[in-house]
Amino acid sequence: MVIKTAEFVKSSGKWQECPEPTIPEYAFIGRSNVGKSSLINAMMNRKDLAKTSGTPGKTQLINHFIINENWYLTDLPGYGYAKVSKVKRKDFEKLITNYILERRNLVNLFILVDARHTPQKIDLEFIEWCGESGIPFSIVFTKADKLKPNVVIKNVEDYKTELQKTWADLPEIYVTSAEKKEGGDEILKFIEKTNDFLIQNSVNFNE
Ligand code: GTP
Ligand code: MG
Repeated sequence: MVIKTAEFVKSSGKWQECPEPTIPEYAFIGRSNVGKSSLINAMMNRKDLAKTSGTPGKTQLINHFIINENWYLTDLPGYGYAKVSKVKRKDFEKLITNYILERRNLVNLFILVDARHTPQKIDLEFIEWCGESGIPFSIVFTKADKLKPNVVIKNVEDYKTELQKTWADLPEIYVTSAEKKEGGDEILKFIEKTNDFLIQNSVNFNE
């Protein structure tokens, strides 16, 4: 997909405050600091479209970007950030789960996991919840540049093995590096294909 325009729309503290759900939407989610905002910037070929930080917990609101004037890319707050109070963490969780369950134009959720780690309980639980809730999702490995390619392959295989304990069918899997601008094009191809499918089938989110 050629990115002609990528513009920030708004930050929302509630799903009800998000922009009108009239066009297809794709959202990035994952643990705090996993690299959601960085991957959005890499895919859009922009340095500071989404705000990034070395300190976890940077993105605390739902951030909408409109791409090519016809689909939304959404940067969600990270889950599982330990350094905020329990109450605040619960608020974040509610914000995220309400958004996912209520946002009717949400076409696919990209769940980002750090390519360096073995499957983490919090991610597996979140994936499980998405499956049970009937939310379409893909898994995106981030920060692949921090590992040797053969280690990335091994970690991805280990992840698949873990998922296969619960799921008969594996989701789509992408391996990315925001640093090296790798893997984002495959995600954009998937989004383009999906958007075409929605147009061909006259999917309308207004009902
Ligand atoms: P929150 O908004 O806090 O939930 O974090 P986030 O998931 O948006 O992470 P962010 O994009 O802010 O990146 C966190 C840190 O990881 C930053 O210091 C980035 O520079 C770094 N980072 C992100 N992606 C990559 C990558 O592909 N490779 C490397 N080497 N570093 C990365
Ligand atoms: Mg962020």
